[in-house]
Amino acid sequence: MSRKLFVTTALPYANAPFHIGHIMEYIQADIWVRYQRMQKDAGKPREVYFVGADDVHGAPIMIAAEKAGKTPAEFVAGIAAGRAEHLDGFLIKFDNWHSTDGPENHELSKSIYKRLRERGLIYTKTIEQFFDPVKSMFLPDRYIKGECPKCGAKDQYGDSCEVCSSVYTPTELKNPYSVLTGAAPVMRQSEHYFFKLSDPQCTEFLKSWTLGQGSDKSRLQPEVANKAREWLGGDENKALSDWDISRDAPYFGIEIPDAPGKFFYVWLDAPIGYLASLKNLFNKKGMDFEAFLADPETEQYHFIGKDIIYFHTLFWPAMLHFAGRKVPDNVFVHGFVTVDGEKMSKSRGTGISPLRYLEIGMNPEWLRYYLAAKLTDRVEDIDFTGDDFIARVNADLIGKYVNIASRAAGFITKRFGGQLNLGPEGKDAPILKTLRDATDEISGYFEHREYGRALRQIMHLADEVNVYVDANKPWVLAKDPAQSDNLQQVCSRLLEAFRILTIYLKPVLPAVAEKVEQFLNIAPINWDDVANVLPDGHTINTYQHLMQRVDQKMLDALFNKEAEPAKKADQPKAKAEKAAPAPAGFEPLAPEITIDDFAKVDMRVGKIVACDYVEGAKKLLRLSVDLGEGRVRNIFSGIRSAYKPEDLVGKLTVVVANLAPRKMKFGISEGMVMAASAEGDDGIYLLEPMSGAKPGMRLS
Ligand code: MSP
Ligand code: ZN
Repeated sequence: MSRKLFVTTALPYANAPFHIGHIMEYIQADIWVRYQRMQKDAGKPREVYFVGADDVHGAPIMIAAEKAGKTPAEFVAGIAAGRAEHLDGFLIKFDNWHSTDGPENHELSKSIYKRLRERGLIYTKTIEQFFDPVKSMFLPDRYIKGECPKCGAKDQYGDSCEVCSSVYTPTELKNPYSVLTGAAPVMRQSEHYFFKLSDPQCTEFLKSWTLGQGSDKSRLQPEVANKAREWLGGDENKALSDWDISRDAPYFGIEIPDAPGKFFYVWLDAPIGYLASLKNLFNKKGMDFEAFLADPETEQYHFIGKDIIYFHTLFWPAMLHFAGRKVPDNVFVHGFVTVDGEKMSKSRGTGISPLRYLEIGMNPEWLRYYLAAKLTDRVEDIDFTGDDFIARVNADLIGKYVNIASRAAGFITKRFGGQLNLGPEGKDAPILKTLRDATDEISGYFEHREYGRALRQIMHLADEVNVYVDANKPWVLAKDPAQSDNLQQVCSRLLEAFRILTIYLKPVLPAVAEKVEQFLNIAPINWDDVANVLPDGHTINTYQHLMQRVDQKMLDALFNKEAEPAKKADQPKAKAEKAAPAPAGFEPLAPEITIDDFAKVDMRVGKIVACDYVEGAKKLLRLSVDLGEGRVRNIFSGIRSAYKPEDLVGKLTVVVANLAPRKMKFGISEGMVMAASAEGDDGIYLLEPMSGAKPGMRLS
């Protein structure tokens, strides 16, 4: 029997393009899946289905769509359109990418809900909630702001104060207002649907799913099991809180059966989206989805980040179990990616953009290797730093691995017509045996997501091969015609060693592996090919360079420090680069964009109707800017050193109007005013249109 695996990553919110944290999660899962696909069980390849989808429902996406002047469906379609570019770019090979708004998810969500209802696990209760009377909608907590009840700071969120750090409930805020309309919210009652997680049968099931039974060890990672133990109350039976699974219209989501005007809360239908994407794939393949999931041999795994453990270890298994469905075999939790030790913020993103990484021609396999080298089976954050990246990739991939092939291939091609001969020892040469003997250890590391260990072991083997090179000195043998056979044998062993190393690295470096298969003139390699050997007389193809070194300039471009290098070395250089060098002090131009890129930036004329200092911020002014859109925007700008508030009130300026709102310590900034500045010059000069311009006019 061959193993059957159903693997997913978390479904990303469709409100923004992928950031480096998403890419890390997909690379982690993709390596595991590629490793599994290289395995056979009793000669039969493993069956693996690796799926993802966009998580499109919920209030934030509905509101973002409205701001963009689109329907939610149009808005998320726009985000979905950019997914393939990222996934293909980083060699992440999902079998399917779907959406939680697909028909499969509507159907599955409703049917799972109905089963839970039949089990008596759904009930309704009337609750009180803030309601925006202008928008006629209930407000999620993060859409309510007001003055901190403790220190009086303005524009604080409904849960905690960013100035004095006190924690409270939205109803305690003074002068609360709706972030959407500015209106004062009113309390309103509404009937909500609840999943009865407090039911003793739920606690009992979840304890056994998360912690195991009797002496069974927990299936979860130790850190994750600890969390679950805490939530489930250890030995005492702490009842879980019931889960509010409904939201009132207007809501972008799935209607609750027999409950007009009520929708499933996004976190109910989101994980069901895993099943929906698989079902969509199976429908396309003409395969039986329900039969696959009902098969006791099928294993189901979800790769997720540490922030969504509660949903995946409590809500999700309980939903599935009490709906009479297969429960996950495990969730694999990773930590967060930090960049230069800094947490990346959702609103500001991070120092590195995945798309920029690709656009400046950086090799996706460098990132795959670098992240893999840092990944373990624990819930640990991993840090990306430029210096470390360069050192790791250049030392390991180029210095240790690629070098082996480049040192051996030339002699074989030029001196022996590309033909290999391992000599009398054949595959029993000690260096080859050492490499083959490591196969189970390395395979265990991949299986258990200990990629860092796997790669350290592989590089350790590469070191041994390099020691073998230095001991046998092919370049010296090449000078002595009497050593010709020896030269051929040494180089053949090196290429055979390189083949084995490539098998071990293939889950991480799929494109390099493919080039190596072509160069060695062999069929696609699988794990069990470790036991084979390149036969004597086999002819290889000419060696083509497998991978470039990382260049510091690329990292500079990635971190936006300087102009970027040409996209690819072999591409004709852009005109601007042929031009005479710019005078010293001239900031290099940003990479060329198309007119379509430019059209994405919506700049408008705005009138500054009010302006204040911001207490506690030496550089900022708070501007209230009217863009003629029927409301006034709050914009923070670092221009305090150049202007007094009274200089600016009544002036027109230019605002980037479709910039994502940015949460700052002092409140949300809803746009950016345009100002000119230069390195080495302290001046900041706000832009002002010529007379006649009116608020709301677009710049083009
Ligand atoms: N839509 C939910 C998940 C629903 S799953 C049924 C969600 N989306 S998300 O876009 O915010 O996050 C998607 C995944 O990316 C999660 O696993 C999350 O932990 C992960 N990451 C988000 N930021 C991250 C880092 N900085 N580093 C690594 N992973 C991070 O949550
Ligand atoms: Zn406060």
